[in-house]
Amino acid sequence: MFLQIATEFATIGSMFSLSQPIRLAVQDKLAALRRLAKRNPMQKPFYIFGAGCQARCILNAALEAGYRPSAFLDDHPQASDLLGVPIFVAAGFPFEPGFRFVVGIGDCDRRREKFDLLVSKGGEPMTIIHPDSSVSRFSRIGAGTVVFAYALLDPCVRVDENCIVNAGAMIGHDAIVERDAHISAGARVGAGCHIGEASFLGIGAIINNGVTVGRSAFLAMGALVSHDVPPHFKAVSPHRKEAILTPIAG
Ligand SMILES: CC(C)(COP(=O)(O)OP(=O)(O)OC[C@H]1O[C@@H](n2cnc3c(N)ncnc32)[C@H](O)[C@@H]1OP(=O)(O)O)[C@@H](O)C(=O)NCCC(=O)NCCS
Repeated sequence: MFLQIATEFATIGSMFSLSQPIRLAVQDKLAALRRLAKRNPMQKPFYIFGAGCQARCILNAALEAGYRPSAFLDDHPQASDLLGVPIFVAAGFPFEPGFRFVVGIGDCDRRREKFDLLVSKGGEPMTIIHPDSSVSRFSRIGAGTVVFAYALLDPCVRVDENCIVNAGAMIGHDAIVERDAHISAGARVGAGCHIGEASFLGIGAIINNGVTVGRSAFLAMGALVSHDVPPHFKAVSPHRKEAILTPIAG
């Protein structure tokens, strides 16, 4: 069965060259999706919203976790497929009841907007946990959240809905990450921290134990934070000077 589906996807991907107008391909792709659904009636369709970098990484995590997306949905697709998975224009898409989804958009506010939209259309957010991450059995991960490879979540961590915990991020025990937050690759969230809704923690940001980061805050890459960050504040560590580039002799 899996092989059959993989073959079907390969066919969908190869049927449409990137230069072919997406408009013309839609009916054929929808027909192919319907054939897939018939072959696999127990499996609800699964969409990744977005078709950019974040969505591509989520596709990878989903496949590693054993979930095969039916399609990407995008407001303005730039191609007819992404890595062999078809892309559909989101506006007017005929959603089936009980479809499953994950939003593959890095920007927290846009991710929230699309998450709420898809829930309002009857979608069920999926939680994806890359098998190479380490998530404590005593932690709770919300619906629609994706945990990428090598992320480490200590016991009693709570990550709410629609969050991104990117590759190699570490979240200490008893920390809380509220909905729509994005913890970028390699960020370190200390034990007992409270990260507010839709906050963005840049690559490699380090937050001391017990710090509260207010909602919609922005922590720059490499930010070192040991005091609370109020809502809607930006935190940049000024000691992080731009690397000085000099030619290597020889
Ligand atoms: C802080 C940030 C928003 C600044 O972006 P920007 O306004 O475009 O700034 P620029 O890149 O033009 O750099 C302006 C100055 O700030 C410095 N700077 C940039 N980012 C910095 C950072 N994270 N910490 C400290 N200084 C930083 C630059 O070195 C530069 O200094 P200079 O004027 O002495 O040369 C951005 O660098 C950042 O951290 N983005 C988050 C990226 C990230 O983590 N993405 C995750 C993807 S999963």
